[in-house]
Amino acid sequence: MVGGEFLASGLLTIQDTTMYLPSTRRRFLSNFTLGAAGLWVPGAFAEALTLTPKQTEGPFYPVDLPLDTDNDLIRLNDGLTPALGEVTHLSGRVTDAKGEPIRNALVEIWQVDHHGVYLHKGSSGAGKRDGNFQGFGRFMTGSTGEYYFRTIKPVRYPGRTPHIHLAVKMKGREKWTTQCYIKGETQNDTDGVLRGIKDETQRASVIVDFAPLPGVATGELAARFDIVMGFTPAA
Ligand SMILES: [Fe+2]
Repeated sequence: MVGGEFLASGLLTIQDTTMYLPSTRRRFLSNFTLGAAGLWVPGAFAEALTLTPKQTEGPFYPVDLPLDTDNDLIRLNDGLTPALGEVTHLSGRVTDAKGEPIRNALVEIWQVDHHGVYLHKGSSGAGKRDGNFQGFGRFMTGSTGEYYFRTIKPVRYPGRTPHIHLAVKMKGREKWTTQCYIKGETQNDTDGVLRGIKDETQRASVIVDFAPLPGVATGELAARFDIVMGFTPAA
């Protein structure tokens, strides 16, 4: 039975990826699973995913990349001293609007250090930059579309609520940029770039929990930011 097979493969995908899904989709999937015995509504699946809004790259993408560009921003090469700040494990998936993973996407992040300074000579307070913070990192997605960085929780700097810049680079496509934010930051309500996202659901989708990592006594945080692109790459 063709319909039955379609449904079964859909459920397999769901079980496989539930832990990675944003909460809006998880709720939707629960409903779907409950109704699976009877109904399959074509189109509803894709509708549940909110496209991640594109946001400005801003002026602080590094002019000169650091010598170390890996996905661990709190240690430079073999440096013994870690960066100052609240260690944060930032992860997520890059998918298309149907939730299909996008592989071979180069995800880059850049952000301020514990003093609010970018790895950029135009950043205010450049003289007090934490030399142990990498400030920038890269990660290439694999078959699951997953990315991961170890970084610090960003802090405020003049004129902006705390945020992490992200770029997604793919072969044959223009660089795509966005920013993610910390749930509960009071300045979120007045930040011009964040308020510039007019669609409320899209705006909410870039504000994520920086929650204590369970079972880790040192106060490390975990943040999950899924990136939903508005296109499906050619196979
Ligand atoms: Fe910024």
